[in-house]
Amino acid sequence: MAVTTTALHPVLVLFAHPAVARSRVNLRLVEAARAVPGVTVNDLYERYPDFDIDVAREQELLAAHDVVVMQHPFYWYSTPSILKEWQDLVLEHGWAYGRGGRALVGKVMLNALTAGGPEQAYRPDGPNQFTIRELLAPLEQTARLCGMHYLAPFVVFGTHRLRPAEIEAHAAGFAALLTGLRDGTVDLEAAGRAPLLGASSSPTHGG
Ligand SMILES: Cc1cc2nc3c(=O)[nH]c(=O)nc-3n(C[C@H](O)[C@H](O)[C@H](O)COP(=O)(O)O)c2cc1C
Repeated sequence: MAVTTTALHPVLVLFAHPAVARSRVNLRLVEAARAVPGVTVNDLYERYPDFDIDVAREQELLAAHDVVVMQHPFYWYSTPSILKEWQDLVLEHGWAYGRGGRALVGKVMLNALTAGGPEQAYRPDGPNQFTIRELLAPLEQTARLCGMHYLAPFVVFGTHRLRPAEIEAHAAGFAALLTGLRDGTVDLEAAGRAPLLGASSSPTHGG
């Protein structure tokens, strides 16, 4: 009897929120992520409150997963600081890039973030001038240097005005995206070219 096996792609969520007790949106997103089989949540602020990052542990986690998702609130048009420290320490020369550095080649990476500003603010003619994807250029290029497939970001806009039901809908959308990445049903080419994945503004609060 022929046996058909479906290769699942383990997903690692690098979760970075410095005040998760006060989070409305990321808390629900990360709870939704934790409920998806095959998803590992690595809570960086919980594990490294003093930023004393265990590089060997982080590299082992990366090696064991095919998909890497940086989940965080948008802080000053970028990530909370522990994710920068994580990059500086974990993505070592000779391991992640450079001579002999091939540990991450072929893996998938994306940002899943929440922004206080509405989607309209992240346009060339808006107050922030740049799209979220443009603002994430250093992360995109870091992923590319490491030989990874960088996908468009999953973004929840206008967080301060979201109603509970809208937050639940975004959490469900995030879980569906993670499930698709795990199962290999996401078109990586299209997701790499897109400006955003799973984004939507609050339908009732435009500005
Ligand atoms: C230090 C700090 C910097 C922030 N910078 C931005 C920013 O650059 N752009 C933006 O849209 N929102 C910004 N915000 C708003 C947060 O992104 C927003 O509060 C968060 O996404 C809400 O998610 P949470 O409910 O999980 O905390 C900032 C908030 C803080 C505290």
